[in-house]
Amino acid sequence: MEENEKILALREQLHKHNYQYYVLNTPLISDQEFDQMMHELQRLEEKHPEMFDPNSPTQRVGSDLSQDFQQVRHKYPMLSLANTYNRDDVRDFYQRVSEGLHGAPFEICCELKFDGLSISITYENGVLMRAVTRGDGVQGDDVTNNIRTIRSIPLQLDANKTWLPNFEVRGEVLMPWKSFDRLNKEREMREEPLFANPRNAASGTLKSKNSAVVAERGLDAYFYYLYGESLPSDSHYDNIKKLGEWGFKISDAMKCVQTLDEIYEFIDYWDAERSHLPVTTDGIVLKVNSVKQQQELGMTAKNPRWAIAYKFQAERACTRLNNVVFQVGRTGAVTPVAEMEPVLLAGTVVKRASLHNADIMNSFQLHYGDYVYVEKAGEIIPQIVGVDESRRNYEGQVIPFISVCPECGTPLVRYEGEAASFCPNDNSCPPQIKGRIEHFISRDAMNIEFLGPETIEEYFNRNLIHDSADLYNLQVSQLCGADGSKLKSARKIVESIQKSVTTPFDKSLYALGIRFVGKVVAKALAKHFRTLDALQNASLEELLEVDGVGNVIAESVMRFFRDDRNRMLIGKLEMAGIDFSMPEMAESASDALSGKSIVISGVFKHHSREEYKELIERHSGKNVSSISSKTSFILAGENMGPSKLQKAQSLGVTIVTEDDFLKMIGEE
Ligand code: IVH
Repeated sequence: MEENEKILALREQLHKHNYQYYVLNTPLISDQEFDQMMHELQRLEEKHPEMFDPNSPTQRVGSDLSQDFQQVRHKYPMLSLANTYNRDDVRDFYQRVSEGLHGAPFEICCELKFDGLSISITYENGVLMRAVTRGDGVQGDDVTNNIRTIRSIPLQLDANKTWLPNFEVRGEVLMPWKSFDRLNKEREMREEPLFANPRNAASGTLKSKNSAVVAERGLDAYFYYLYGESLPSDSHYDNIKKLGEWGFKISDAMKCVQTLDEIYEFIDYWDAERSHLPVTTDGIVLKVNSVKQQQELGMTAKNPRWAIAYKFQAERACTRLNNVVFQVGRTGAVTPVAEMEPVLLAGTVVKRASLHNADIMNSFQLHYGDYVYVEKAGEIIPQIVGVDESRRNYEGQVIPFISVCPECGTPLVRYEGEAASFCPNDNSCPPQIKGRIEHFISRDAMNIEFLGPETIEEYFNRNLIHDSADLYNLQVSQLCGADGSKLKSARKIVESIQKSVTTPFDKSLYALGIRFVGKVVAKALAKHFRTLDALQNASLEELLEVDGVGNVIAESVMRFFRDDRNRMLIGKLEMAGIDFSMPEMAESASDALSGKSIVISGVFKHHSREEYKELIERHSGKNVSSISSKTSFILAGENMGPSKLQKAQSLGVTIVTEDDFLKMIGEE
């Protein structure tokens, strides 16, 4: 087969397997085989740039190039639906439809209302041409490049199916709970603000200017409407089923019914069942099923007359507000927290709810003893959503946001552009000091076992520690009782503190608690600069060169090192024996790898890929990029690519582990 034909064939197969995996959830081949085909296609496409196609399966990874969205006018305006919240409204809708159709029989298609962002996608001759957001309903943003990265959306329809030559589909882009949880966990690690719910996360992601970001975030999409000339059927339900056959993800929950009772049944069933779905739904959509009848009913200025949304009640409880307390975190940020009479909400007892910041708290005008509504909708953390003012039994003063730190009395400040209020006394405000030490000892930082928040609290209160460096001066005699009790645990604590001085640089850097420098950024900085000295002296431009470092992080790093107190702390930590640097590579050169062609694959523990390339050269070997029968061996880290592994096996090329390689060159 010619390579050009091979490219087309691979694309077709990959589109099919993609559909099996992401839409049907029933893969026909292993992930390994899939990756192998993808790599092969990538290789061929690199070789034949003239064959570039934006809808090739290889393009799902997106691009780092920033894009500005073009405004595009919708061919069919994107209407929104009228919302209802109770059964009477549903009955009114049903009757209005019946009257509008002059008593003719009709069916209602009941569907889930997915809680994401609506999208309109145009296909021509089976190829995805353009995807546009709702915008103002008349025109929206062209987000085609971002949409292409969503694996469950077909880029090219299966040639063996008979689809319409030109059509437009409407659907909802969503972030499944699984992707949402993962994303927020990563953001927490990087100390970035969390997304409140999957809808916000999906919306933030789809509007990202960098489609590579979209590709990583695991969005999904369900389709629920088809526009086009000569539709396959007059039944909306059948048309959507057709969309399913053409390769789109559609919901299993659709149901056609005739009576009001059946509608109520559908609502009740999904109100209870929706919590088991992998994505968020906030209600039910009811549509007149016949497309002809839909046209007959037409629309009002804003909404179609043939459809309506029934919104589920968010789980909500009403309880008494006892107090508002103010918590000070490690960074000095002050968070108001409502303390309430315990109340049962969505299966858990709730007694505290964050009020986030001064603006949000003040918007409720809270009074002591107020009855407040608490909700757990898409949100994970319970939120106060309102006050039942009719139950307020006295008109006392509104509970004010504090103006001084509840812990140290320092007047609070608010930095421009930040919603939070801060206690600026980071030097001696107790929760900030304790918070920093707790961060320092945590697992991802210095990982000092046997110490925890309680012991830190105790040592701090006993004046034994004032910063993290003081930990290294702790003596066994100070930590055990005067009578020698707790001797064993005191010894273990001191031992584990001493042991921590050998913590690798990326972790000791993370342990310093520089604002916005999470685990991942710390690793990138450590790798790039190799020593704390180099990092301290880096200019803004140099910092910005590091992967994942933008202005906010770079400026925070510079601010940290400008502060004399931080430099003093680092001095004390170095005195205690912490070496803030990556291990130097052995300088010695040898002929150990003379005449050897070596392929590098996978992820490594001791050195970066670049360093291994350098090491190979220094020891007279040659680094080559692809495996052939001439390859001497493969230096393999973890997660070596499956296609490489298979190729190595079939050619009988030896695989050498990282540790064995280091032994070969005399570096252990
Ligand atoms: S039908 C004219 N069906 O809800 C038909 N919409 O306010 C318009 N939505 O903008 C949409 N699930 O983003 C339809 N099964 C579903 C839906 C759905 C979610 C969203 C959509 C729309 C909004 C209605």
